[in-house]
Order: sequence, then C-alpha cells, then structure tokens
Amino acid sequence: MTSQVRGVQLARLLGQWHSLPGRRRSPDYAALAGAVRGLLADGRLPLGVRLPAERELAEALKISRTTVTAAYRQLRESGHLASRRGAGSWTMLPGTHRVTSSGLWTPQDDVDMIDLGVAALAAPAELVPAARAATEDLPRYLGGAGYHPTGIVELREAVARGYTDRGLPTSPDQIMVTSGTQHALDLVLRLAVSPGAGVLVESPTYPNALAALAARRARIATHGLASDGAGWDADLLLGSIRQGRPKLAYLIPEFQNPTGHLMAADLRERVVAAAHAAGTDLVVDESFVDLPLDGTSLPPPVATFDRHSRVISIGGMSKPYWGGLRIGWVRASAPQVQRLAAARVGVDMASPVLDQLVAVHLLAEAPAIVAERRAQLTVQRDALLGALTERLPDWRVAVPRGGVTLWAELDGPISSALARAAEEVGVRLAPGPRFGLDGTLERFLRLPFTLPAAELVDAVGRIAAVRYDLDRAARPQWREPAVIA
Ligand SMILES: Cc1ncc(COP(=O)(O)O)c(C=O)c1O
Repeated sequence: MTSQVRGVQLARLLGQWHSLPGRRRSPDYAALAGAVRGLLADGRLPLGVRLPAERELAEALKISRTTVTAAYRQLRESGHLASRRGAGSWTMLPGTHRVTSSGLWTPQDDVDMIDLGVAALAAPAELVPAARAATEDLPRYLGGAGYHPTGIVELREAVARGYTDRGLPTSPDQIMVTSGTQHALDLVLRLAVSPGAGVLVESPTYPNALAALAARRARIATHGLASDGAGWDADLLLGSIRQGRPKLAYLIPEFQNPTGHLMAADLRERVVAAAHAAGTDLVVDESFVDLPLDGTSLPPPVATFDRHSRVISIGGMSKPYWGGLRIGWVRASAPQVQRLAAARVGVDMASPVLDQLVAVHLLAEAPAIVAERRAQLTVQRDALLGALTERLPDWRVAVPRGGVTLWAELDGPISSALARAAEEVGVRLAPGPRFGLDGTLERFLRLPFTLPAAELVDAVGRIAAVRYDLDRAARPQWREPAVIA
C-alpha cells in the first residue's frame, strides 16, 4: 500500500518550518530536514509514504531545489528516508529507533495508583438497580438454551432504536450484540482482513485496535491527525484511501481516542465515497458518540452516507455506562450480521444473556444516565484543564468537546520517560507512543478525565513534580527536537 504525499500537502504539514522554535543559525536545508523528522516523530507524516520529487517540493515551498536536495540527503543519512533512483524517496525511521510494544493497553488492579492509563468511568448508580431488574427478567430466557449468536432480540431492538433516533434507520437484524466493542472489532477484522491486507488507521489511535490488527497480521498504514484544529486533513486522508486502496480503514470519528477530535459532516460523506471508490471497508468506532460536551451537536453518523454496505459501525456500553458489562455491538447489513454471527460461533458462541438484560435496562434510562455522565465529565475535564494550565503551563492542550480524553502536547519528547517517572509517584500514564506504531508520538500524552476531579488535580501535581525532576536528571536526552532513539 504505497501512498504519496504531494508537494502542496507536505508544504501544508510543514507549516512554519523555517522559523520553528529552537532554530538559530542552522541552514535552510537542515531546518527543513528537522521539520520533516519532527512530522515523522509526531506521527503526522506516516512511515512508508513517498515524498514529493525534489522539484515539486521546492516549488511548493518556494525555495531552491538545492535546499530540498540537501535536506533529502540529510534525511537519507540520518535514516529517515530511503531512495531508489527513478522510483522516489520513502519515509522511514532509523533502525535503532523501532520500539516494540505489546500493543495491549490494559488496566492493572493496583488500588494505590491513580490510574490515568484507562479512559473509562466507574459504574453509574443505576447499574445495581438495572442488574436487579435483569435477574427478574431472566426466567423468560431460562426455558431455552441461552445461545443467541446475534444477541437477544430486546437488546438488538434497543440498539437499533438508538441508531434510528440518531437519524440512521436501523432494524434489529442489522445489529449483532458482542462482548464489548473490542470484540466487535476483532470479529469484523476476522472476516475482512487476511494476513498482509492493508489497513488504514489514524495516528494516534486506540492501542487495543492496533493490537487487534497486529493479531490479524494486517499491514498497517497511518493517517496522521493534527493535535489541534480539525484533526483529520481531508486531502491527505482521502488521498491515502484513494492511492493506498486499503482493504479496510478503522476510524473513530466521534471524539477520537485519544485526541478528542470530532469529524465534520462533509468529510464523513467524502470518506465514505472515497472508500466505496477504492473498495475499502470502513469500520467506524462510535465508542464515544453519546458523550458530546458543551452542547456540541453531532454530525450525522458516518453510515448515513453509505449506499453500498461499505460502512460497519461498532459501539458499546463501556464509555457511557460501564466497561465491566462487556456489552458492545456491530451495526452492518443484515447479511453481514449473519456472516459475523457464523464467525462468532467459532469464537465465543454468544454473549451472556444476563449482561444483555442489564444493558436493556440501562438503555431504557439512557437520557438521564447519559446527561449525568456528560455533566460529570465536563466538571472533570475542566478540573484537569485548570490543573494543567496552573502546573504545566508549557503544555499545549486543545479542549476536547466530547469523549473522555485529552491529548496534551508536551514541552519535549519526554512522554515515555515521564510515564516511568510518574509511576514512581503513584500515577500510571499512557505515554504517546502507545497510541502509534513506531515509537513516535513522544511529545504527546493522553490524559483521560474519567476520575474524580480531586484525583485528577492530585495526579497533575505529581506529574508536574516529576516533570521538573526529569529536567534536572536527563537534560541532554530531550532538548533536541529530534526523533527519540
Ligand atoms: C475507541 C475505542 N474502541 C473500543 C474500546 C473498547 O471498548 P469495550 O470496552 O466496549 O470493548 C475503547 C475503550 O477504551 C475505545 O476507546
């Protein structure tokens, strides 16, 4: 899956490359090479993409071709570019750089830790009454074997109603209940992705999605999101689909994990059209769709623009309700649901009936529960933002208008070092590289606002303390705005 960045696209990504902070008297070619390395390190420029020809980039940047030639030479020497005569130059990272990661991001049950590694809320007060009511309902099911590969009808009806209410008419036979959104993703990938198939994901993205893709031995390509502004670069995203023709693209359009971005309606429409033209299946993870904050209105669901069964939506109970329920779902065409159910029989047969009944009761009270969650998240987000402004004023944070996470741009490529140091003072962090593929994203940190405000403020205080200790301990490591080795 080769994709290419055009001169004007790279020029836009490079922005003010000639006056980046830290530049003093370095020549233009070195500044340009440094800016390209920065884009790679931040995951904005994916690995394995073809850079524009030297002349094209020179024209786009309005600089001499010799400057671009020298910058490309420096990038080749530092191991950031591979070139073949006549075929062009591809982005890469130096061999020493690759960071292996299990890809898994799971909570650990350590009660003394403030766990900022997990972006999920504690259960709502309504959970226990819902569980009691579910046990009352259970006898209705006890006369049967209890295996419902697509889920019990009443839950499929409730989920279908939710989509219909969002403007996407859906029938219960288009829904398959799964044991969580992660399970939904894994099942979809089992059917759609064979080993070596190309899959496009956002960078940064949800780490356990990367783990699921690694398990299918997918060939992963990334679309780099901006940490501020619109997030997705329409031109580049559509270009990656059109040129790369991935088998599947996995996107999180609502309050993306980790950046919090919300994809605009027109891009949704264009992505669906591009996916259809390229023969790409679009898997849309709607985990956070119930959690807009600040009265933010939601664009239509991505699947509204789908006329050809290209879009598979996945979602679940974990974010608005409780992760411990392990209830998620797939929305697809009825035949796709049948194929997924057949595949699922070889995995786990069906989801637990009792948990599905609990979900039915919670969904019956959705408006009240979700309103309370949003209010809680707003308070917690604002407490976190306030603490960051006060204690870590050099970090840059775009205010997320929904979801449960913010994506902080740090004052240096220190994310992993900071996570190690924070662990020592009782705070577990998910450092930036966990959300990317190649050990990039060291200048970023995901901070969820799912814990009570006082704990968030406490955690930021501890992080700030170790941040300044890092300064003293490890100065030479991260003063240079370069790729981390
Ligand atoms: C984007 C995204 N998808 C899927 C999941 C997993 O959700 P579930 O608990 O429903 O499996 C999460 C949980 O953090 C998530 O953020």
